[in-house]
Amino acid sequence: MSTIESVLNETRVFPPKEEFARKANISSIQAYLTLCAEAELDYQGFWAKQAREQILWHKPFTQVLDDRTPPFYQWFADGVLNVSYNCLDRHLATQADKVAIIFESDDGEVIQSTYRDLHQRVCQLANALKSRNVKKGDRVIIYMPMRIEAVVAMQACARIGAIHSVVFGGFSAKSLHERIVDAGAIAVITADEQVRGGKHNPLKATVDEVMNMNDVASVKCVVVYRHTGADIPFNPTRDVWWHEITQNASTHCEPEWVNAEHPLFTLYTSGSTGKPKGVQHSSAGYLLGTKVSMQWIFDYKPADVFWCTADIGWITGHSYVTYGPLAMGATQVIFEGIPTYPNAGRFWEIIQKHKVTTFYTAPTAIRSLIKLGADLPAQYDLSSLRLLGSVGEPINPEAWMWFYEKVGQSRCPIVDTWWQTETGCHMIAPTPGAVALKPGSCTFPLPGIFAAIVDEAGCDVENGKGGFLVIKKPFPSQIRTLWGDPVRFKKTYFPENTGSGKYYLAGDSAYRDKDGYFWIMGRVDDVLNVSGHRLGTMEIESALVAHTLVAEAAVVGKPHEIKGEVVIAFVVLKGQFPHGEEVTEIIHTLREWVAKEIGPIAKPEEIRFGENLPKTRSGKIMRRLLRTLAKGEEITQDISTLENPAILEQLKHPSK
Ligand code: PRX
Repeated sequence: MSTIESVLNETRVFPPKEEFARKANISSIQAYLTLCAEAELDYQGFWAKQAREQILWHKPFTQVLDDRTPPFYQWFADGVLNVSYNCLDRHLATQADKVAIIFESDDGEVIQSTYRDLHQRVCQLANALKSRNVKKGDRVIIYMPMRIEAVVAMQACARIGAIHSVVFGGFSAKSLHERIVDAGAIAVITADEQVRGGKHNPLKATVDEVMNMNDVASVKCVVVYRHTGADIPFNPTRDVWWHEITQNASTHCEPEWVNAEHPLFTLYTSGSTGKPKGVQHSSAGYLLGTKVSMQWIFDYKPADVFWCTADIGWITGHSYVTYGPLAMGATQVIFEGIPTYPNAGRFWEIIQKHKVTTFYTAPTAIRSLIKLGADLPAQYDLSSLRLLGSVGEPINPEAWMWFYEKVGQSRCPIVDTWWQTETGCHMIAPTPGAVALKPGSCTFPLPGIFAAIVDEAGCDVENGKGGFLVIKKPFPSQIRTLWGDPVRFKKTYFPENTGSGKYYLAGDSAYRDKDGYFWIMGRVDDVLNVSGHRLGTMEIESALVAHTLVAEAAVVGKPHEIKGEVVIAFVVLKGQFPHGEEVTEIIHTLREWVAKEIGPIAKPEEIRFGENLPKTRSGKIMRRLLRTLAKGEEITQDISTLENPAILEQLKHPSK
């Protein structure tokens, strides 16, 4: 049985600061362990209690978990609620005038929306959609810029029981088409254009392109939000202006009360191969997950100014922009632009300007900000910050240290949150007032989440050994099925071998250290096999990033006659792009460095330099493309989700 070897040796530990712990929602390791023990003792009782406390039910549930037909689990199934009611109406009596959203546009304009205002806008759009015959259970595609209206569109769907499916505004016509067809959408909500980094990009024109393709007859209505005022084609039998249909719509809209299991949304996630998967989430279980994680992991306090930088096109933007913060009644920042426009100080400026307390972003953004201005945070007043968070990829310990020292000024804990589109909310992440942090580790599971690491037969592996990350018991916020494809759902996430079809298989490799901390090693598909040693990508990449010259790195395996595979590293340097002899010198330095940091087994056979790495639009490195390049083969795979196709050319050949 082959397990995955761990080679990273990170020893720094950061216990919670007393000042932070004293005020924290979970304020000691005992408090955390007590919650875990409650969940262990009475699993269903634990979640039922949470669901009663956190959700306003129109009709209370009497059943908790229905596990009669695994893996098609149901939670709180006879309960009735409305998610939009839980995010908006519930705050009207107590804090209607609290600012819900501080919006900052790409060019720096600031617009605020209170809970009252947001509620009215949502009701108006909900009524307008109803008047266009959008009903409970209908699918609505949202293809919008990152603005208040995007949140309004999602909440309006939730209000009338329509199932939204947000497509990231950077996706092409092909990706949009695929999603519209798969969902059988009856309406599309879009804008004339979006603006990011000073550039205008078409949205409506892309929708029109899709409307001219096959199999889209289901779409009866396209709602267009006028953003830039660009001249766009308009088809009067199908297209309507957002401002026209909402103008005279009532600001009251009775929520559509739905069952707990009614699908709140589907969100497409691109599998490593094949067509995108429509991950389907429930209403109550999903809402519950976003709420408890806001409190346990983000340690939410009513005075917080919360900022999650993710686009609504990703699950992070669903859970920690549209649903979690609003369900808590939080004030949050929404930013339309990019971290580097008009300069690499933009994020720090926003934190300073809006007095952000909780800042949640991705390692890819952190690494690019280090490359572009490691000293910039010192030029801003970041004293409002009290908590930092990271999501989307393993955060390399060196990037973690920079984030901790330069942004959090060694004062703010970092919550490294491991989760997935499919899990709906955080699964493994520190409760920051309770758990001592280790840079690069997502630490421990949330109370009620039974995460474990198993081998190919589903047996637990001992601490220190790598294996497959699974969640052994069903949890409220988990994926319910893949839209229209229950067979693929079962096969992908609940395979028979790892846990006899009962464990949720995450598809990540991970290990626990001697203290039981979880460390994510990368996607299982990315595991390397060098001379019989199975190595995760994360640790070798972290070793490279720990070198002062390196900003970013990705490693892949290349087949080798004797060793099975050898390590090929793709590296972005912090400074100038190297040339001539410099290349040979840096390659030598980095190979020796990895040999010293990890061991000769992980020493890259070859190192190629690039100005960037191929990434998805959500910032994840596409290692499958790098594997093809490493083998010297032509890329024939689908690259429609690739952010920067030009980079492939640069990385094609060994650096000279
Ligand atoms: O490989 C893990 C990585 O991102 C995957 C999930 O991606 P997605 O569905 O796009 O959702 C991203 C936002 C939740 C995981 O299987 N991942 C996510 N967060 C972390 C992570 N890897 C390591 N550490 C994390 N904190």
